[in-house]
Amino acid sequence: MFEVKNISMIYDMNTDEKMYALGGFDLTLPDRGLVGIIGPSGSGKSTLMYCLSTLKKPTEGSVRYNGREITDISDRERETLRRKEFGFVFQKHYLVPYMSALDNILVAGNGSGKEETEKAKDALRLLGLREREFGKRPAKLSGGQCQRVAIARSMINDPKVLFADEPTASLDHENAFNVMKILKKYSEDRLVLVVTHDRSVLTDVDMLVEMWDGNISGISSRA
Ligand SMILES: Nc1ncnc2c1ncn2[C@@H]1O[C@H](COP(=O)(O)OP(=O)(O)OP(=O)(O)O)[C@@H](O)[C@H]1O
Ligand SMILES: [Mg+2]
Repeated sequence: MFEVKNISMIYDMNTDEKMYALGGFDLTLPDRGLVGIIGPSGSGKSTLMYCLSTLKKPTEGSVRYNGREITDISDRERETLRRKEFGFVFQKHYLVPYMSALDNILVAGNGSGKEETEKAKDALRLLGLREREFGKRPAKLSGGQCQRVAIARSMINDPKVLFADEPTASLDHENAFNVMKILKKYSEDRLVLVVTHDRSVLTDVDMLVEMWDGNISGISSRA
C-alpha cells in the first residue's frame, strides 16, 4: 500500500550543517496489519509519519500510496485523501474545547443522526469511557480520557490507514493495553501505524520498524 523510496527530510535547509530528520531510506508497508514504529526521541518517527500522511512534504524521495505518487499532489487532492482515507491520533489530542466528548467525535463523522451517535457512543464505551463522561468537555476530562476520545474520533470514518503517534502516552498500563487491543482488531482489515518509544505496548505487532538517527535500523515482520 505504501512504497517509500529514498526518502529524506531536512527541516532547515539554510544552515551550513544539514540535519537529516530522515536520512534517505526505502520502506514498503502492507495493506493491512499493525505496524509499530519505535526509536529514541528525535530519531524521526513523527517525521516519517507526517511524510507518509502528506502532512509534511519530504525534501527528497517518493511516497506511493496504492501506486500513486502523493508527495506532489495538489492541496485539494491532499485534503480529499486525508479526509477519505486517513485517520490521525496525535500525541496532543486537539479536541475542540467547547464541545463535549461525544460531539468531538460526531463533528469528525458523517453527521449526528441516531446511527452515528450510537456508533460514537459504542466507540467511547469500547475505549472504557463511562456514560457520564460523554457529555463533558475536554477540560473536565483527564488527559488519558481525552486521548481515548481522540482515538474514537480517529476511527469514526473507518479510515483505511490509521496514523497514531504515541496513542498510549498518557494512559495507565491497563488502558494502554486496551487501546492496543482495539487498534489490533482494527488492523485486521486496515493499516494501523503506531509510533511509540514504549516497547511494552508493541507485543502484538505484525511488523516492527526500528528507527535510529533518521534511518531505519531494523525491520522485522511476523511471518
Ligand atoms: N518542525 C521542525 N523544525 C526543525 N527540526 C525539526 C522539526 N521537527 C522535528 N525536527 C527535528 O527532526 C528530528 C526528528 O524529529 P521527530 O519529531 O521526527 O522525532 P521523533 O522520533 O518523533 O521524536 P519523539 O519521540 O521525541 O517524538 C529531530 O532532530 C528534531 O529536532
Ligand atoms: Mg515524535
